Amino acid sequence: MPIAHRIHDALERASWIRKMFEAANILRAERGADAVADLSLGNPSNEPPSVFYESLREEADAGEARPHRYMTNPGYPEVREAIASHLATRTTVPYTADDVCMTVGAAGALNAILRVLLDPGDEVVLQSPAFVEYPFYVDNFQGQTCVVPPRPDFLPDVQRIADACTANTRAVILNAPNNPTGRIYPERTWRDLGRALASVSAGLARPIYVIFDDPYHHLWYTDAPPPEPARSYDQVLYVTSFSKDLGLAGERIGYVAVHPGAADRADLHRALPFALRVLGQVNAPATMQRVAARLIDHPREDTRAYYRLRRDRVFDALDAAGLDFPPLEGAFYAFPKTPIPDDMEFCRRMLDKGLVLVPGTAFGCPGRFRMSYAVAEDVLERGLKILREAL
Ligand SMILES: Cc1ncc(COP(=O)(O)O)c(C=O)c1O
Repeated sequence: MPIAHRIHDALERASWIRKMFEAANILRAERGADAVADLSLGNPSNEPPSVFYESLREEADAGEARPHRYMTNPGYPEVREAIASHLATRTTVPYTADDVCMTVGAAGALNAILRVLLDPGDEVVLQSPAFVEYPFYVDNFQGQTCVVPPRPDFLPDVQRIADACTANTRAVILNAPNNPTGRIYPERTWRDLGRALASVSAGLARPIYVIFDDPYHHLWYTDAPPPEPARSYDQVLYVTSFSKDLGLAGERIGYVAVHPGAADRADLHRALPFALRVLGQVNAPATMQRVAARLIDHPREDTRAYYRLRRDRVFDALDAAGLDFPPLEGAFYAFPKTPIPDDMEFCRRMLDKGLVLVPGTAFGCPGRFRMSYAVAEDVLERGLKILREAL
């Protein structure tokens, strides 16, 4: 499909989220806020932990001792050191400070990576349903996206991903805990994917990177934390942020970590900070970098408990309604099948009743809807009541 059409297509799909957002505002103005349950957004509803506010106070009290000037583009060395040490402990992969580049959220990291990897016409493989912004990020650098459907259980179809790779493929972007399905990919998937991509890359001049987009890392409701893809494949560019689990999405702080075994490790160390410069990000916010270093090892049990409560309510409601939905393993979304085939019509009907959802079509996956449970408890209860009564 020509690039203009593909982007138009992506725009059409992404504009569903905007349309829903605007419709929710109109409904609120017409019927009052209490008549609307907006479960359409991925905007964290949890408050940052108290240590965040303590760190901010400490930053302010320290005055000149905590500068606010430009720093080296990849960020403060001590912050990168703290993050590398956290990652090395968590993954057992020996990350160093040089591997870490602080960024303006996960979105800033994804754009910096794509700026570095892509020449016009280079390809990036995505798996549907995908975060709606990915195709735009790829398009920023005149890349081409190739979208691969998942397995019926919404886990990656490794063979399909490998088959989609060509000599022009530079990267596969994957995200788990996943937006919008809520799935976490098991260790075995990463091992199989690592093997498959290593084998495809062996026949090519350049490696195929996995850009592992992990902003929901700490939001898991399974027996154990999500597996670490960096243990299964050396060509992993790890992306995450403090946006979702710590409720800091508006503060725009994240990072990319280059795998120590990456084929272009040294070049990536130089190129990523340069990409921050030329993209106008320059460096990640100074104060937030220092605060992030203090929060990196902060326990996330409270956040998990906060979302688990909501996740359990969503599970009970969807289950009682007899809807088919992938296991609610992580992040803060459910992605059920719509009870009628037309997901857009279903979301329109729900909107009429005051419940704001996103049709699966927005994620390239018709016949489903995304429901976010990153909302206050009373809003969630209202939304689930509307859904129960409508089904
Ligand atoms: C899968 C995924 N990746 C990246 C982002 C962007 O995260 P950030 O706010 O840290 O830029 C989001 C935000 O919704 C997301 O859902």
